[in-house]
Amino acid sequence: MSKKIIKNGKIVTAVDEFIGDILIDGEKIVEIGKDLNLDGAEIIDAEGYYVLPGGVDTHVHFSFDYRGNKVRGFDTSNAAVAGGTTTVVEFVNQVEGKSIVDSVEEYEKNEVLGVAMADYNFHGVATDFRDTRVFDEISKLPDAGIPTLKLFMAYKGAFYHANDEAVFRALQAAKDCGVTVMVHAENADVIDVLQKQLYDEGITEPYGHALSRPPYVEVEATERAINLAKLAEAPLYVAHVSAKGSSDAIQKANSEGYSIFGETCTHYLTQDREELAKPNFEGAKYVCSPALRTEEHREALWDAVDRGWLNTITSDHCGFDWKDQKHFGKDNFANIPNGCPGLQDRLAVLWTYGVDKGKITPSQLVDLYATTPAKVHGLDYCKGHLGVGYDADIVLYNPNSKSTMSNDNSLHQVDYNPYEGWEQVGNVETVYLRGEKVVEDSKYIGKKGQGKRIKGKAYGLTYRGFKK
Ligand code: URP
Ligand code: ZN
Repeated sequence: MSKKIIKNGKIVTAVDEFIGDILIDGEKIVEIGKDLNLDGAEIIDAEGYYVLPGGVDTHVHFSFDYRGNKVRGFDTSNAAVAGGTTTVVEFVNQVEGKSIVDSVEEYEKNEVLGVAMADYNFHGVATDFRDTRVFDEISKLPDAGIPTLKLFMAYKGAFYHANDEAVFRALQAAKDCGVTVMVHAENADVIDVLQKQLYDEGITEPYGHALSRPPYVEVEATERAINLAKLAEAPLYVAHVSAKGSSDAIQKANSEGYSIFGETCTHYLTQDREELAKPNFEGAKYVCSPALRTEEHREALWDAVDRGWLNTITSDHCGFDWKDQKHFGKDNFANIPNGCPGLQDRLAVLWTYGVDKGKITPSQLVDLYATTPAKVHGLDYCKGHLGVGYDADIVLYNPNSKSTMSNDNSLHQVDYNPYEGWEQVGNVETVYLRGEKVVEDSKYIGKKGQGKRIKGKAYGLTYRGFKK
């Protein structure tokens, strides 16, 4: 493979920004410095561009199934790459009667190999708790390159719902082998009661989704999960934090010396609960769990990412069609498939509404969208950072472009974009995936199947301070 030098761009890492050159040899970054030259190397002029590590989106759903409605799959992973995300980590549910590792490997063989366009790994999702061998299996996940395990405390009645016993036993087993437990923290019982009460009162519209999932539904489950982690003496990663109280609980636990990590998502930082009130069932486009919140919560989340109390920003991407799949809940909001698309817009949204508005610096963006996600999920031996020896996953971001976000530019193969018509500052213009150009002039030019599995290592960042 050829040698390339990306010249005179503003290189951004999680700790600094500087004008410099990056020398790529094949798939790897081999040198970073000033005035680099090498006979025969292709020169890429990056003057005026921010040069960022490719994003690592560790909360992506390409196989999530909500009451029989399945999201778009890995054949839409070029949407990630076009938006500057070169690595995705997808949640694979344990199939009933099968082990987690077998479920992941079968899924990869049947639906990912030869299809993925971004590099990828998987989180295991434990679901089959009737067979307690699931807890014994956790110790086998690291050898299969799966250092993270998700449990859904929400979704009462769904086969993947995890009760407190399941969460506690998983935490106990995980800490013995360096696996990080991730929780979707919402009180499933309370949601179930509220959904039924609202329906009986005649509330069937999408706004009922927000009413049935008020912030305390999340705060209560977050605090409970933190307490379970304290009891198990295990670290914990709380997925998609949307409420101020949850973020406060995570910050408090850390101030007491516990290792509790928090993730938030692009939409919780930017989108408002009132979107759910849009008429003609348009509100369904914004149904995700936890539910969207108000400005008070968004400001608290921006503050938390700025101060390092929340550690990562992901998309929680779910490719559900509005016309087709979201209408499943036309007569009852509780049946609207949970989750919204957002994979392609993560970097542009964070740049426009975070960096450009002065809420975070470019270095903080890099940390939150690439470097720390890679460290938590054990991928930081090759991903999430612009450094010698790392994969040459590189984004050239033009900060001067101004545009409008639209589904017309989306590759997610869904019939809407929650950011339709929003102003966008800057643009992903060029992307390299392991040294190969896959986005040119903001157009995806890569190949199906180009994405490679990147196995994660156990004892990720959440285990800092723990003894092996
Ligand atoms: O609404 C969401 N977040 N859907 C995806 C599944 C989950 O709960 O993470
Ligand atoms: Zn999710």
